[in-house]
Amino acid sequence: MSNKAKLFIAIVLVLIMIPVMSTVYIKDNLHNSSYCANCHEGYYATWDNLESGHTLAHAHNQTGTSCQSCHSRGLEESIVEVVNYYSGNYYDPLPEITLPMGTCFSCHGSYDDIIPLLSPEITGHQHNPHDGHLGELECSECHSVHKVSINTCDECHAPVTEDKPGWGVWEGKEN
Ligand code: HEC
Ligand code: HEC
Ligand code: HEC
Ligand code: HEC
Ligand code: HEC
Repeated sequence: MSNKAKLFIAIVLVLIMIPVMSTVYIKDNLHNSSYCANCHEGYYATWDNLESGHTLAHAHNQTGTSCQSCHSRGLEESIVEVVNYYSGNYYDPLPEITLPMGTCFSCHGSYDDIIPLLSPEITGHQHNPHDGHLGELECSECHSVHKVSINTCDECHAPVTEDKPGWGVWEGKEN
């Protein structure tokens, strides 16, 4: 075989190996939160440590909840993410998303389960944010995971979540 032919085969093999090895790496690591930190360092920080303030991400870390428990990701989606990342095909900062309450209810049950958690007997005030006259609101109306949460009841009522770690004050805008 000529040297040229050997070189050609070597190049083809390398070109095949890179995607194969990358895919194997992604598949093996996809379920670790630290895998996500490769590209989402800031989000990982809110989950991993308290330096960025008390967030729900960190509270969930303490309960053993990984990134993937809230952001489910398959192999295919992850490969697309990698391609988008290295081709620069994304917005920086990332557009803000909200998750449907079904994601939260996969662990927190239903409104029937979370209403009693903030009953007046427990909190000492009559306003139960899980049981207001606005019906069953999306969790994202009040709870944020990677930044401070805002209790939207405060728009019209005296703040009841003042001075609580992880909660900010209503300032007349959507959180
Ligand atoms: C190789 C870099 C890379 C890795 C690793 C990575 N992401 Fe991403 N992620 C991106 C890019 C780029 C975007 C924006 C474009 C897109 O959605 O493909 C994104 C978007 C997102 C978004 C917002 C949009 C959406 O789809 O909801 C979430 C949430 C997210 N990633 C979570 C994760 C989680 C969880 C992991 C770990 C399992 C992870 N990412 C691993 C690069 C990465
Ligand atoms: C308890 C559920 C939960 C966990 C655990 C979680 N996230 Fe999120 N994530 C959310 C929610 C809800 C949003 C929407 C914005 C918010 O609430 O801060 C979000 C938004 C994002 C976004 C999109 C950009 C944005 O600001 O909307 C990225 C990227 C992301 N998360 C990455 C991660 C990574 C990486 C981890 C693990 C280190 C992680 N998340 C852990 C619930 C979660
Ligand atoms: C994989 C399971 C899981 C998912 C998904 C999940 N949680 Fe949790 N969450 C827990 C566990 C476990 C705890 C600790 C025990 C408890 O309070 O129920 C917790 C605690 C909390 C707390 C109390 C935190 C504190 O500081 O004490 C809030 C608020 C909360 N979750 C909101 C949410 C919201 C909003 C979502 C959706 C974006 C969500 N959770 C998704 C498992 C989960
Ligand atoms: C109208 C605002 C609002 C909405 C909507 C809301 N919450 Fe809450 N939630 C709060 C406030 C305020 C607290 C109490 C914070 C505190 O006192 O520590 C809280 C506390 C919690 C807690 C912790 C309770 C405890 O035992 O301390 C969980 C779990 C929770 N919320 C889950 C959810 C889920 C899941 C959803 C969506 C189905 C949701 N919440 C929707 C405002 C809201
Ligand atoms: C758009 C404004 C507005 C928002 C947002 C709002 N309320 Fe109200 N609420 C009112 C009005 C108006 C009344 C009746 C007048 C009054 O008695 O203050 C009321 C009355 C109440 C009452 C009866 C006792 C009282 O204070 O008068 C409770 C309890 C209550 N709201 C809880 C909540 C909860 C929990 C939330 C968040 C899920 C919420 N409200 C969000 C406007 C609002």
